[in-house]
Amino acid sequence: MSFQEEFLWGSASAAYQIEGAANLDGKGDSIWDVYSRVPGNTFKNTTGEVAIDFYHRFEEDVALMKEMGLQAYRFSVSWPRIMADGRTVNRQGVEFYHKVIDTLIANGITPILTIYHWDLPQALQDEYQGWESRDIIDDFTRYCEVLFEEYGDKIPYWVSLNEQNIFTSLGYLQAIHPPKVSDFQRFVNANHIANLANASAVKKFREMGIEAKIGASFAYSPAYAQSAKPEDVIAAEDAQELQDLFWMDVYAKGRYPKIALKRLETLNIHIDFQPGDKELLAAGVCDFMGLNYYQSATFVAAENKQKTAQTGNASQVSVVSEISDIPTDKLFARADNEYLEMTDWNWAVDPNGLRVALRRITSRYELPILISENGLGAFDTLTEEGKVHDDYRIDFLRRHVEAISEAIDDGCEVIGYCTWSCQDLFSWLNGYAKRYGFIYVDRDEESAKELKRYKKDSFYWYQKVIETNGEQL
Ligand code: BG6
Repeated sequence: MSFQEEFLWGSASAAYQIEGAANLDGKGDSIWDVYSRVPGNTFKNTTGEVAIDFYHRFEEDVALMKEMGLQAYRFSVSWPRIMADGRTVNRQGVEFYHKVIDTLIANGITPILTIYHWDLPQALQDEYQGWESRDIIDDFTRYCEVLFEEYGDKIPYWVSLNEQNIFTSLGYLQAIHPPKVSDFQRFVNANHIANLANASAVKKFREMGIEAKIGASFAYSPAYAQSAKPEDVIAAEDAQELQDLFWMDVYAKGRYPKIALKRLETLNIHIDFQPGDKELLAAGVCDFMGLNYYQSATFVAAENKQKTAQTGNASQVSVVSEISDIPTDKLFARADNEYLEMTDWNWAVDPNGLRVALRRITSRYELPILISENGLGAFDTLTEEGKVHDDYRIDFLRRHVEAISEAIDDGCEVIGYCTWSCQDLFSWLNGYAKRYGFIYVDRDEESAKELKRYKKDSFYWYQKVIETNGEQL
């Protein structure tokens, strides 16, 4: 078994998905507060207004984390809680995160801070269209500077942007996240600006001499070719260029991958490079790769496209994108992988895919990797005795931990493992039906009930894993 002594056994969350207290103590609206209030945008019109009320219950939650033996907790800061208008510091917001961080530390849990997990201040969306304007680069950098000043000596690992590939593609291409746009060129533009903002934050971090590590978290579904037909292999390579390396190269090398740029050109899509952009990207290279892994992705050449590909969420329990005909459809298409089972939400279950992801990152970048998310979204049942028998989750996590161990033996440097999630929480497009936690939170779409916490069977399983440093799975 291969987990080093300092390996961090952790778990993760995001502000909008847990905090609630949407307008308390000087917090402003985020784009998600506004978006989820519009009927039809989320599953059963659920919002994070109350979420699991972490804002008032963090002490109880941290006590449970301690009982589980958790060594690291990844959480995000809500930008509009720190700055309601995106710029003016709100001391009450700042103090809230001091309290959370101090409570974690006092309980022996390493805090991992995510700077941006999708809840942009609505004020900046209204003022200049958020990620579509270069004005955001300075505002984001200033926000980061405040976080570095306040929490710089308490946080050893910083995650800058969470899943930039997801918030840009779901927001600007698939039109199922705010601002609900579907336009490939606008997606590429917003993404380029997000890259610049990310690089500027990393640059600021270095300039301030923060003694910690910083990286972005990337939602990586490693690409497989469905068959050995050469055209399917090329399609999977194109998918890898445009869906993976297009982000990871920027974080790790400070530049876009050459082939991806050429492929975009053939689709008549261009990146709006301005003087100084290349230098800024080069100055924003990360210390580690944050890896959010849920599933692999299988591809065929566009001409081999099947009608049956089971991708995306199960429509009866989520909001799904209905956008078709995007430019990259000419290059590759998602396909089924007959060797993999699917979750209730049609996500492919593929522990080996995690090993592949870790190995590909290591081969191309030789960076340490923090697994910043991995988990199983499932329906859970609370029994009358207050138990949740989630053996399916235990099985899923066990197989993924084994895959990490194999990848470490293959030569990958893995800093730690944050499961998604610790407590059940609000799922952006699946309400409270899709659960990920070790801790069951008793609420549903209709009612927040009393938000009582229950330990699932997986809670005790993870406790053992941590206690034995991965020896007992
Ligand atoms: C990641 C996000 O994409 O996946 C999380 O960083 C999210 O915020 C998680 O909740 C699971 O996605 P979903 O749609 O199943 O809730």
